Amino acid sequence: MSNESLANLLKEERRFAPPAGLAAEANVSAEAYERAKADRLGFWAEQARRLSWETEPTETLDWSNPPFAKWFADGRLNVAYNCVDRHVENGLGDRVAIHFEGEPGDTRTLTYAELQREVSKAANALIELGVEAGDRVAIYLPMIPEAVVSMLACARIGAPHSLVFGGFSADALATRINDADARVVITADGGYRRGKPSALKPAVDEALTRPGTENVRSVLVVRRTGQEDIAWTDGRDVWWHDLVESQSDQHTPQAFDAEHPLFILYTSGTTGKPKGILHTTGGYLTQISYTHHAVFDLKPETDVFWCTADVGWVTGHSYIVYGPLSNGATEVLYEGTPDSPHQGRWWEIVQKYGVTILYTAPTAIRAAMKWGDDIPAKFDLSSLRILGSVGEPINPEAWVWYRKHIGAGRTPVVDTWWQTETGGIMISPLPGVTETKPGSAQIPLPGIAATVVDDDAREVANGHGGYLVLTEPWPSMLRTIWGDDQRYLDTYWSRFEHKYFAGDGAKKDDDGDIWLLGRVDDVMLVSGHNISTTEVESALVSHPKVAEAAVVGATDPQTTQAICAFVILRGDADANEEGLVEELRAHVGKQLGPIAKPKRILPVAELPKTRSGKIMRRLLRDVAENRTLGDVTTLTDSSVMTLIQTQLPAAS
Ligand code: WT7
Repeated sequence: MSNESLANLLKEERRFAPPAGLAAEANVSAEAYERAKADRLGFWAEQARRLSWETEPTETLDWSNPPFAKWFADGRLNVAYNCVDRHVENGLGDRVAIHFEGEPGDTRTLTYAELQREVSKAANALIELGVEAGDRVAIYLPMIPEAVVSMLACARIGAPHSLVFGGFSADALATRINDADARVVITADGGYRRGKPSALKPAVDEALTRPGTENVRSVLVVRRTGQEDIAWTDGRDVWWHDLVESQSDQHTPQAFDAEHPLFILYTSGTTGKPKGILHTTGGYLTQISYTHHAVFDLKPETDVFWCTADVGWVTGHSYIVYGPLSNGATEVLYEGTPDSPHQGRWWEIVQKYGVTILYTAPTAIRAAMKWGDDIPAKFDLSSLRILGSVGEPINPEAWVWYRKHIGAGRTPVVDTWWQTETGGIMISPLPGVTETKPGSAQIPLPGIAATVVDDDAREVANGHGGYLVLTEPWPSMLRTIWGDDQRYLDTYWSRFEHKYFAGDGAKKDDDGDIWLLGRVDDVMLVSGHNISTTEVESALVSHPKVAEAAVVGATDPQTTQAICAFVILRGDADANEEGLVEELRAHVGKQLGPIAKPKRILPVAELPKTRSGKIMRRLLRDVAENRTLGDVTTLTDSSVMTLIQTQLPAAS
């Protein structure tokens, strides 16, 4: 961004008060903000007492060597004990922990008592494979219960796990195994995806032929799809059902230091090699447990929680595994895609299990909008009481659609901002407290300090935009980039002194509430104004014919950059309709002002997305500027770009 701060274009006036009943019974009330403000560290020390510590911490934060934080450093605890055993000891062994739904329709229920036995067996199996505290274990699995069991088994014996998303290639897997120097890989023969088995083990076999992966001595393989032609390396490969099933279901967890590494998770970013984000034990679990309790108002006795993310992303780590289970929740784990075998699959699952809290991503909400309102309308979604969103800015129109068509116009929607690096939710409404605004994450949670600054690190006034920064350390913050402290300093702590630079553009509205405006790299410069891609996209999505939009700035001789928009139309709209493009341009002009009118609008059938569902604007910029495409390896489907390019001449 230049010195010109972000223009504040979008005016969203809709407001939604928390339902009275929910507010009256909410886990967290407005008073928490005051308490945390008066004594931030005392507030987090109090939240740490949500957990069972073998040795209670006496220190809260050691910030003597910033930005390398230590939280609760003299405390000791076991994460798996906190997520499983203590609930069984508290008499909740028969409570369902996981309702698993496989894509082909197979199901499995795991109570907390069963989970304790499964995790104990898996921990014993890892020990038999020679895994010791501190050894890294790579996990490359589909969304099946063994993924959760494996993570907890690693945590139980103090072996940091490194999950690699099952959709990643052998190359991506090899790079991550190498960087983390993993000793064991846990995988499966395959998983189910869009009605078909999709193999995983061959990618592991291939990854392990690459240099730098020699230290992997065992590959533990879950049989999921039962494909027969699976390659086998004797002495290295071992079946889960042979090794794990033969173990004792008793294992006594040992406590680890609060700063013992819990996991490494790689985040790709736009350039350079993936960064191994390191999270540790006590502070991470404290913030994840608290935020899950506060943001989703979890009532473990009655709620059924469902986070639709993959366990291979941080959302899955924090809000499928560590948050819900540390809080003794009952949750759904679903293996497949939202449209297999039909576009109502998610809503069918909500109905079947009586899901009360749903946490998903804007990309999924926009896909459901595109498929049509009549699909969710066929299912009974009346169990839902809270809806969450994460991963990208949510367009106000998608937010309102989500509340209306999934939440029956009753449920609060919590738009939660955070990152792999922050470990847990940082900025979000509280469902029983906050009057929500569609499209805004609004306020830092109690105990979290965030603001928006300009190029000179000065806090912007209300009504202005700039960069999102975090101004105080937080318990679940990354501790470093694995093996690269310098890159940790350079990436996050050198842009502004003493402040964490998140890399996101943001603005404060007239009430001081925070609106996220996308990655800083995506901000456009048009005739001297910094304009957020997110705001133009939201204006387009607010037109009844548009389901999804991706906006980029293309180099332009007159205006520095010109706004170029790619749009996916809703089910019943026609891309060849006379005057459509003019109508959409005029609509944006009316919503945001003439400066934000796209110069070009191109209706397309699909948009390029990363495997975690984020739009890859970089590739669209290549198209808009008639360049050869950059790296497409992290795309979900690289044929999308070919499709867009062939559509171009006709559409422009
Ligand atoms: C980036 C972090 C957080 C888990 C999933 C993504 C964007 C995330 C929001 C939100 C606007 C959001 C930001 C952030 N983002 N949530 N509610 N509103 N933007 O984790 O892959 O590490 O990505 O996702 O740009 O920096 P991640």
